[in-house]
Amino acid sequence: MAEPASFPPRPDARRAAALRRRVRAWYAAHRRDLPWRKSRDAYAIWVSEAMLQQTRVGTAIPYWRRFLERFPTVAELARASEEEVLAAWSGLGYYRRALALQRAAIRIEEQHGGRFPRDADAARSLPGVGPYTAGAVLSIAYDLPEAAVDGNVARLFCRLFGLDAEPGSRDLRGELWALAAQMVPRRGAGDWNQALMELGSTVCLPREPRCDRCPLSGPCAARSEGRTAELPRARRRAEAVDVSLTLVAAGRGGALLLERRPKDGRMAGLWQLPTAEEPGPDGGRTGLFPADLPRRRGGRPLIEASERVGEIRHTITRHRIRGAIHRGRVVGRGALPDSLAWLGGRELAWAPLTGMTRKALGVARLPARGYPPSLPFAARP
Ligand code: ADE
Repeated sequence: MAEPASFPPRPDARRAAALRRRVRAWYAAHRRDLPWRKSRDAYAIWVSEAMLQQTRVGTAIPYWRRFLERFPTVAELARASEEEVLAAWSGLGYYRRALALQRAAIRIEEQHGGRFPRDADAARSLPGVGPYTAGAVLSIAYDLPEAAVDGNVARLFCRLFGLDAEPGSRDLRGELWALAAQMVPRRGAGDWNQALMELGSTVCLPREPRCDRCPLSGPCAARSEGRTAELPRARRRAEAVDVSLTLVAAGRGGALLLERRPKDGRMAGLWQLPTAEEPGPDGGRTGLFPADLPRRRGGRPLIEASERVGEIRHTITRHRIRGAIHRGRVVGRGALPDSLAWLGGRELAWAPLTGMTRKALGVARLPARGYPPSLPFAARP
C-alpha cells in the first residue's frame, strides 16, 4: 500500500480572497474572446466542454460553430442519427464523446424537459458527463458555485499550493477538488473556473511556465521553492508504438470505396479507406486496423493495390502511424461485403470518416471531384 499523501495546509479565508483577486484581475485583462463565452445557453456550453476535453481551443472553434449550426438545440441533437452526429464530430477524434453527447441529449429530452439539469448529481449521471464537465457547465451557464478541475487547473494548483503526490492518485484528486471547492466564489464561479483554466493553459504551461507573466508567481509554492519543473510530478508515459499501414484509394466514377469500422471499439462505425496493418518489428499488430485488405467471400481478392500516391503521418493516442496511400481497383465479381460501400458526392461529403482517412484524401487529392477536404465536415445545403 502506498503511504497516504500529506499536503500543505489549505489557505485560510484571507489568503483565498487575495488569490482570487489576483486571478480575477489577470483574467479581466487577458481573457480570450472565445465564441462559447458569448453564450449563456447551457447546451452550447456543454458542447464546447465536451469538445475541449481532448481538443485544443483553436481546433475546437470551427467544429463547435458547425456542430451548433447543424444541431442548434438539445432536441435536434436527440433526434439526429448516430451517423449524423459522428459526421459532425469527424476529425475531432475520441468519438465516444460524440455518441455519449447524443445519448445524454436523449436523456435530457426524456427526463429533464430538454434543459441541461441544474442539479450537479443529475448532471453527473448523464452519459459522458463527469465531475469536470458538470462543474464547468453549471458554473458557466447557470452561475452556480461548482468547482471544475481539468488538467490545466490541476497543474496550476499543484504548483501554487505545492502538492507533491502521485499523479492521478485518489489522494491528489481529492485534494485538488477540495481546494477547488474552497476557492470557488459564490458569485461569478463560471468566470472564476475559466480564469483558472486560461491561466493554466496559457501561462502555467507544462514544460516552460511563464512565471514572469503569472499573477500568482508571488504566492506560488513551487516558484518560491524552485520546483516548477518538478511539480506536478510527471506521469509515466506510455511508450509510443509505431504502426505501418497500407491505405488503398479505389475510385469509380467519382465515388470512393470505403470500409466501415466495426460497431465496437475505437472509432466505432466510422468509414475509412480499405486498410491493412503491417506486422510490427516483433511480428505483432496493434489490432486497431484490419490485418488485411478486405476480401471477397471464400477469401478471393477484392482489391488490387497499384502505385503509391502519397504518405501520411497520423497519431492516435500513443500510436504513431505512417500510412502509405496506394491507388487501387476492385477485382473479381459479385456483391461487396456489407462492410464496404461506394460513397461519392454528398454521401461522401457527409459520411463520418476517420480523421486519418480525411487526411489521406487531402494528401492524395482524392477523389478529384465531390470531396471538400478543407472542411472538417460539410454543412447541409
Ligand atoms: N478548457 C475547457 N473549457 C474551457 C473554457 N471554458 N475556457 C478555456 N479553456 C477551457
